[in-house]
Amino acid sequence: MPVTLAFDVYGTLINTQGIVSKLQEIVENKADEFSRIWRDKQLEYSFRRGLMQNYENFSICTSNALDFTCSYLNVSLTNEQKSELLRSYRTLPAFDDVAKALGQLKSAGFRMYAFSNGSSDAIEELLTAAGIRDYFLGIVSVDDIRTFKPDPAVYRYFLQKSGALGHTAWLISSNPFDVIGAVSAGMKSVWVRRSKDAVFDPWGIEPTVVVESLNELNKMCKWTESS
Ligand code: 2OP
Repeated sequence: MPVTLAFDVYGTLINTQGIVSKLQEIVENKADEFSRIWRDKQLEYSFRRGLMQNYENFSICTSNALDFTCSYLNVSLTNEQKSELLRSYRTLPAFDDVAKALGQLKSAGFRMYAFSNGSSDAIEELLTAAGIRDYFLGIVSVDDIRTFKPDPAVYRYFLQKSGALGHTAWLISSNPFDVIGAVSAGMKSVWVRRSKDAVFDPWGIEPTVVVESLNELNKMCKWTESS
């Protein structure tokens, strides 16, 4: 049975901190804090919309979170500046370790999908701009079923859409809530601990494997054989 890999996108393949240089032009020394609050609030809004069953696509969570961050940090942006930031968000860069790791995994015969809260259109544009679209057999977006990670329905949907079975499907993600959601739904998971400061939630559910960068996925064959 071939092994299927579901790659989380924002924060795992694509660097959401890539917006900081654009933010520095606008909010100067508040750029790092602005970027962190914007990303945290974007995810919080996705969780809340999922719980409230009040779905709007992920770009609305991103845009609403941008408005919140401006108000919270008392920063006044013009509509043009906001549009420019949201446009930049659609072409954020990939992390440096991504292309090589994806190339090796594809050559090794893994079935690879991008699996994201983002809509298919947004992820298509993002991966194409980052030059990594062709590594994937397809994009699976939660937008199709109008809810967000870590709703168990989205992991079931991934398995259904990719034709994979839970025990031969691995989520690769830097987001602990995503790893916990996937393992809880019967998948295996690699947690990509991209920062030494990243803490895994004490949930009683552990990642199958922990790595510090995608370079370590060259051991994927070994892990899938032994698990
Ligand atoms: C993604 O689904 C959770 O942001 C993350 O791409």
